[in-house]
Amino acid sequence: METIRITVVTSDSVEELQVSPGANLLMAMVQAKLPAAFMCTTGKCTACRVRMDIPSGSAAPASETERYRLGSEQIDLGYRLACQVYVQGPLTVYL
Ligand code: FES
Repeated sequence: METIRITVVTSDSVEELQVSPGANLLMAMVQAKLPAAFMCTTGKCTACRVRMDIPSGSAAPASETERYRLGSEQIDLGYRLACQVYVQGPLTVYL
């Protein structure tokens, strides 16, 4: 089965995860025991806000919920809500 590589950069390590297409980014990081913060998992608390590089086609653009919670300035800087990102291609996350 096809898998997709997620690169997770922390202050002292670089981890590579392999996930299935459509995997939820937050859940993938939690399952890999990475220090990903979260509370609600439904796009309300913004605890899972992280900066990421998402190449075109690797995930849907920021949702209405993300735009409302984060604002266009943070979205433009690359911030997303990990619980709202479903992986469709390789991407990099900065924890
Ligand atoms: S965990 Fe609350 S917005 Fe993602």
